Amino acid sequence: MRTVATVADLRQQISSWKTRGERIVLVPTMGNLHDGHLALVRHAARCGSKIVCSIFVNRLQFDRPEDLAAYPRTPHEDLEALQRENTDLVFMPEHDEVYAERHRVQESLPAGPLYQQLCGEFRPGFFEGVAEVVSRLFHMTDPDVAVFGEKDYQQLVIIKQLVKDLGLAIRIEPVATQRESDGLAFSSRNAYLNPQERAIAPQLHAELVRVGDRIKGGQRTFSLMESQAAERLQRAGFRPDYVAIRDAETLESAAYEASHMAILAAAWLGKARLIDNMLLQTG
Ligand code: PAF
Repeated sequence: MRTVATVADLRQQISSWKTRGERIVLVPTMGNLHDGHLALVRHAARCGSKIVCSIFVNRLQFDRPEDLAAYPRTPHEDLEALQRENTDLVFMPEHDEVYAERHRVQESLPAGPLYQQLCGEFRPGFFEGVAEVVSRLFHMTDPDVAVFGEKDYQQLVIIKQLVKDLGLAIRIEPVATQRESDGLAFSSRNAYLNPQERAIAPQLHAELVRVGDRIKGGQRTFSLMESQAAERLQRAGFRPDYVAIRDAETLESAAYEASHMAILAAAWLGKARLIDNMLLQTG
């Protein structure tokens, strides 16, 4: 496994692989890797012949400097884990390396409602920052395939749209959310939970399953179901930002007859803002 910090080294390695006909798969991360990330890397191995993983804590997607400062950084453990997963190349740049080019891709993209709703409403500028760094990583790496987790479902939908808007020939591969045995989705933010909060945390997923079951059972009173779910989370000890039942492709409010839905939720528990979702195919 090779580790590079500059775009020049990254490009040189990738272009030499490409001349040999290798298929490049990119797994973008912000490090502090857990089993959810490793599932992305394992999936990447099935999508191409060279796995490139980026570790870059993207300043642009943090709206509060204290969040950026507190974000867990574990480069040594990350590199060991990636080595075990047979990663071929790790790109670990500094901020100025990624942002040397001053033109913001984001400014030339249509700022759609996708960015401003759900998590975007509560974290202004977050998805703009994600789209900026992901388009830069795509540009620098020029992968055939890029792998993203379904856990960050809104991010996944935005990145698929970005690929279309920029006309990129990159296949986006989603990977199902990885969970602890009690249902809690793996997340770097779980480390912020104290033992009592950790015991409550699986109720977020349980609530999504409950809403999903009601939809499968034929219920369609979506806004009532959303507010009831948020109330139940509140009673359990969460401070919910939202519970939303949406069309899984567009993230617009789910129509009565929608057949592919996403039930999404974000809720604070102590110092951790947890997000989760459930995808539902009905009919
Ligand atoms: O999902 C993440 O870890 C980040 O948002 C990403 C896609 C690596 C961009 O910084």
